[in-house]
Order: sequence, then structure tokens, then C-alpha cells
Amino acid sequence: MCENNKWDSSQIRNYDLDLQPIPRLHYKDPKVDELMKTNQPVLLSGSNIAKPAVDKWTLEYLEENLGKCGHTVYVSKTHKFKYFNREKILSKANPKGVEFTSETKSVEMKVSDFMKKLKEWKQGDDRLYLQQSLNSSVGSAIVKDFMGFEWRYVTEKKIRHGWGELSANLLFIAMEGNCTPCHYDEQENLFAQIKGFKRCILFPPDQFECLYPHPVYHPHDRQSMVDFDEPDYIKFPKFKNVKGFETVVGPGDVLYIPIYWWHHIESLLADGPTVTVNFWYKGGPSCLEYPLKDDQKVSIMRNVEKMLLEVLQDPKEVGPLLRTILLGRYVDVQSFENIQ
Ligand code: OGA
Ligand code: FE
Repeated sequence: MCENNKWDSSQIRNYDLDLQPIPRLHYKDPKVDELMKTNQPVLLSGSNIAKPAVDKWTLEYLEENLGKCGHTVYVSKTHKFKYFNREKILSKANPKGVEFTSETKSVEMKVSDFMKKLKEWKQGDDRLYLQQSLNSSVGSAIVKDFMGFEWRYVTEKKIRHGWGELSANLLFIAMEGNCTPCHYDEQENLFAQIKGFKRCILFPPDQFECLYPHPVYHPHDRQSMVDFDEPDYIKFPKFKNVKGFETVVGPGDVLYIPIYWWHHIESLLADGPTVTVNFWYKGGPSCLEYPLKDDQKVSIMRNVEKMLLEVLQDPKEVGPLLRTILLGRYVDVQSFENIQ
């Protein structure tokens, strides 16, 4: 049960996971910087970071002011919206791609049509999730609200912690119960909750082995292959040992999700639609200081994987080649056989 009785445990899905709470601090607490400096997540409370949005962005207001252009809306038969990268799918223009059909489709939709479907939705219908970068096509009222964000604070964090440029502010409008399955991004994220509640489960970069990401060439690159609703412990045995953190964000809260941290995010059940705006910052220039940090190791693994795929030209050759490099040389044969 949450401390202020705004929601209860029947509104969150039940997963068999070992999770600790993410620290919740007043946004001006000096400990915030200690956590950010060491790439630890923290929930910032009491801020004005996205205050105009928290105060004003009802669904009616968004419908009125988001603009008449089409917005990107994902459609799914289940509660899961697993992101995929179109550029990695096989097509005439992309002969090196992968044969793939996604559970989730993306469509362009006017915000008025999206809101209509949201109001008429009933259990069993396809679910919708609007995910659209805030850009120059939004109406002037939204632009004004956006300019009223507490930019001094977020920019101070960007500079102090050496993050790269702000690359996007993504707007998320979800149906209750929608879930973004576990993945990591190559960006720093200030995740500002505007309306409704989202449960966020985070895992540090060193949990890579327990979370089994798809290979980098796959359209689901950066996404865990483990289905949290029905984990296949035969295929993914180390998922049993995964250790993470969790919190529930509500209106006005801002969650810092450090770069390369895994996150699984779900809108609470039976609580109506949710609205979030994130601030995505590119990673800062990383210098290789030793000992290497866990996120740097993930980045190195990605680069090695990409390089092998590039030169070998066939994903099937990557495993045998790595095995030949390792076996009896970097790992002893016995321990290698044990991990199979
Ligand atoms: C993100 C993210 C998903 C969601 O902000 O990086 O994965 O459902 N968000 O809010
Ligand atoms: Fe993400």
C-alpha cells in the first residue's frame, strides 16, 4: 500500500522479483547530486520541473492544444508495448534486416481520434499508447506551458553531471494498465509524471546477464527477451537472480533514470489514463577511467557485438567465433560447459 493511500497493491501487477525502493528526496536535497553523480536513480519530489503541465494538462486541454497534425500512436492487443526499431526489419531497402512481425503496430492518428478511442475503450479492445516528441507542431498554449518548466533546475543538473545535449521531450499518454516492458536507453532521462500513476521497476546495468537483451542487430535491440508475465526460467535461468529497484511516480514527481539502466514501466490498473513528459539527454563524453563503470562495459559490449556483426556479415557466425576466442583460453573448458 502506498503511504498516502492514492493507490493500492491490487493496482500493480504481481511479479516474482527482488526489489528495493528507490530513494525519494526533495528535489533540492544535496543528496540528489550524490546519487546522480554515481548514476543512481532517485525520485525527486516537490519540484516545479513540469509544474504548468501538472497544473493544466487534462486530457481535454491536451486534445484542444496538441495541434491538428497526426501523432504517433502504438496499438497493441495486449497490455505490453514492446518497442522495436523499424530500421532493423528486413525489407527491399534493407536486405540485411531480420524477418520480424511485431505485436505492436504504430499508426498516425489525430489527437481527437485518439481521445475518442480512449473514452470508448473497454476491456478486450486493442490498447493504445500515444508517444510523440514535443515539437514545433504543438499549439501555442503547450509551447507556453513548456517554456514555464523549471529549465534552470534541469539545465543545472545537465551541466553539473556532464550530460550531453537535450535530445527530446517525449510525451506519453497511456491507457490504464499499459506497460512498457523492460529495456534500457542510451540516454539520461528525467521522467516527469504529469497525470495518474506509473510503477517503475529499474535494474542497474550490471544486471545485463540476468535480463538477456535481444542481440543488437534485432529490432528489439536494448529490450529484455524475458517476458515478466511468464518468465521462461529454462531459457533465461539467471532471471531468477535479478535484483532491482522500484517506485510509483505520481503527478509532480520526477524520476531520474540513469543512462543504461533497465526500466519496466506500467500505468496502474483501474486508474484512468496517465500522462508523462520525459527529458532525454545524450550521454556525456565518456573518458575511460579505471576501474570502468558498469554502463561503460555495456557500451563496450555493444560495440564489440556491432563490430563482429559488421565484419562477419552473419549473426550465426558470432557465437562460434566468440566461443573459439574464449574456450580454454579466457575461460576454462569446464566452467564454460557448466554455463551452457
Ligand atoms: C522512457 C520510457 C516508457 C513509458 O521514458 O525512456 O521508456 O511507458 N518510457 O513511460
Ligand atoms: Fe525507456
